[in-house]
Amino acid sequence: MERVVDIETFSMEDQNSELSLRPDAWSEYIGQEQIKKNLGVFIEASKKREEALDHVLFFGPPGLGKTTLALIIANEMHANIKVTAAPMIEKSGDLAAILTNLEEGDILFIDEIHRLSPAVEEILYSSMEDFRIDIIIGSGPAAQTVKIDLPRFTLIGATTRAGMLSNPLRDRFGMSFRMQFYTSEELARIIAQAAKKLEREIVHEAAIEIAKRSRGTPRIALRLLRRVRDFAEVANEEHIHHERTKYALDELGINSHGFDEMDLRLLHLLASANGRAMGLSTIAAALSEDEGTVEDVLEPYLIANGYLERTAKGRRATRMTYDVLKLSMPLEKGTLL
Ligand SMILES: Nc1ncnc2c1ncn2[C@@H]1O[C@H](COP(=O)(O)OP(=O)(O)OP(=O)(O)O)[C@@H](O)[C@H]1O
Ligand SMILES: [Mg+2]
Repeated sequence: MERVVDIETFSMEDQNSELSLRPDAWSEYIGQEQIKKNLGVFIEASKKREEALDHVLFFGPPGLGKTTLALIIANEMHANIKVTAAPMIEKSGDLAAILTNLEEGDILFIDEIHRLSPAVEEILYSSMEDFRIDIIIGSGPAAQTVKIDLPRFTLIGATTRAGMLSNPLRDRFGMSFRMQFYTSEELARIIAQAAKKLEREIVHEAAIEIAKRSRGTPRIALRLLRRVRDFAEVANEEHIHHERTKYALDELGINSHGFDEMDLRLLHLLASANGRAMGLSTIAAALSEDEGTVEDVLEPYLIANGYLERTAKGRRATRMTYDVLKLSMPLEKGTLL
């Protein structure tokens, strides 16, 4: 099933406007304060030393701003950035071609870095560590290994599936950052900033209303903002007000907890277990998803907000799960009536 957060589900209009709403300066990148603070120090230090920044890994659920941060780093470092994604690098020769075309100080951004094939990953190791690659030319007894020196570059990797990254690859990143979900206040600031770019004012309550229904995720918040703006536009309202926003979000069937359909299916599944814990493999099979997606993409938001509990025996619904689904909580064994 497609999730709201899949980029593939965007229409062209959405993709284009995502680009135009993407902040390109540090000051426009809201939230993730700890990451910004640390990165800021490392960027300044490497600029002072006139060296390329150490390799950086960003991981966390989709739509939290990993790609955006990579672009901002390039901007801050005044560096060229080449953007690619692991599925596009099929053979080790593809990666060798990319690497040998880099220049001193360039940034190479590899999205979905958990999807590199082992042979390609192998090449990446030596390039990250020694800025050198060994290429085999020819085959059979006449095959020769040629060592090629690479310029000092910075690799920025992004992944939604940190659990699928091999240890040797993970260890070669000098910095690794886990993206956090955004608070409603932070999302409201992102929404207000984007509304300005869309040449619309939005009142604070309306921005908060959208924020609360955005699963802690800027991409969802921005998409909802565009839809709400459409409602305001059709109603000939210059500003985006709270009432129109509530009306639009209800019309769109957006749940007030920011859950999407997949979240709701998972919560209903857990609730149906009557207080018992459910194993990851059972959950994945019931949802027709792979375990890694359940663990790395679906669960983090639910756990962060108290709607799911991980125990030694598996995943369990919490009181909040039952409350939000308007179901009654099963009684604990031994509870006196
Ligand atoms: N901190 C932020 N401040 C302002 N806008 C943000 C922020 N983070 C993300 N956005 C906006 O949210 C949208 C999605 O961000 P981005 O594409 O960087 O997410 P991502 O983590 O790379 O997602 P994916 O895992 O799907 O690649 C972008 O349009 C970006 O403009
Ligand atoms: Mg991205």
